[in-house]
Amino acid sequence: MDIFEKLAKNGGPIGQHMKRAHGYFAFPKLEGELGPRMKFRGKDMIVWSLNNYLGLVNHPEVRKVDAEAAAKYGMGNPMGSRMMSGNTELHEKLEEVLCAFVKREDAMLLNFGYQGVMSCIDALVDRHDVIVYDALAHACLVDGMRMHMGHRYAFKHNDIEDCEKQLQRATEMVAKTGGGILVVTEGVYGMDGEQGVLKEITALKKKYSFRLLIDDAHGFGYMGPTGAGADEAQGVQDQVDLYFSTFVKSMGSIGAFIAGPTDIINYLRYNVRSQIFAKSLPLIVVEGMLKRMDMLKTMPQLRENLWAIVHRLQDGLKTRGFDIGKTNSPVTPIYMKGDVPEATQMVMDLRENYHIFCSIVVYPVIPKGEIIYRIIPTAAHSFEDVDETLKAFEETKKKLDAGLYKAADIPDMAEV
Ligand SMILES: Cc1ncc(COP(=O)(O)O)c(C=O)c1O
Repeated sequence: MDIFEKLAKNGGPIGQHMKRAHGYFAFPKLEGELGPRMKFRGKDMIVWSLNNYLGLVNHPEVRKVDAEAAAKYGMGNPMGSRMMSGNTELHEKLEEVLCAFVKREDAMLLNFGYQGVMSCIDALVDRHDVIVYDALAHACLVDGMRMHMGHRYAFKHNDIEDCEKQLQRATEMVAKTGGGILVVTEGVYGMDGEQGVLKEITALKKKYSFRLLIDDAHGFGYMGPTGAGADEAQGVQDQVDLYFSTFVKSMGSIGAFIAGPTDIINYLRYNVRSQIFAKSLPLIVVEGMLKRMDMLKTMPQLRENLWAIVHRLQDGLKTRGFDIGKTNSPVTPIYMKGDVPEATQMVMDLRENYHIFCSIVVYPVIPKGEIIYRIIPTAAHSFEDVDETLKAFEETKKKLDAGLYKAADIPDMAEV
């Protein structure tokens, strides 16, 4: 069998739909200034699928600093990895700002979130150690664990009893191997909007010996009284040993960081392969991030605006009888029942006739017969955006329940 022949025939779980979906259900092109109102295939849309929680991505002050930094440094500066030739005063300054913000001793910049945290996990554990992790952990965490040569035990999503059960197994295993235990979970889960049960997990430290790493990609910048993240919101910052977040969401940039005790961050600086063997963050990004961190600290209105939109949206959905699950963050799932062709018809109606653009999750990502719409409210949305969207969901849900979206198959919406 020729590998290329096999791949071209198969396509993969989502790729098999490429011929009908490309450019519409997958790889859509949103055009115009990034924000709550953009164009899709020539039509104006209210956009609910950008993780631009604080509305920073297109904030005039942010755009100005980014543009000035680009003019000053160019894209390539500095060259090389931090360890070899790519370290600067500004990189170190940003690390100081970040670790102070999340109340940790030290922080290390990562050039990308995905590879960064994956590689941190790889560096943190050896084959004697055991990883205990939430079954819904993001792909980058799972990939990090796939590199792990020792045992790993998943616990049911946010199920603290199962977490404890897996910790017991892990404790028995490390008694034999002589290793330690790393627990991995998220601050805010980007799919269902539920915060990781950090308070409950950290309470288990009284009974079991382990270290805790959280990925707070969806919580950094707005969760908690100062926006320092989900662990601040739950009052357990001092119990979460390693805090990771990316700059691609509330910061509207690129890059990431991990924060924790100085000796461990220093260990990571010298051992995380994706950073040692890859270029450091461009200075454009670093200077832009320093500005964003300033804004985070001095502009609480960004968070207040976000939460005002979140409450109007989530309260509006609940009073209209929508099932938004157990979200306790801005991420707003809307759970519905229907098959994949029905879901695609509904999405098309929402886009073509109501001008609402949001992400949808269907089988094989979730079980057959379930549909999840995923709405990401941001500080840049208006109450008008929310109200129009609530009306659109109310009307389209009625059509779904009446069976009006029944279809034989996924329509061909690919770009010609
Ligand atoms: C939970 C989570 N972790 C990590 C990442 C990866 O971060 P990056 O885009 O910076 O590689 C993402 C997505 O961006 C994410 O949602």
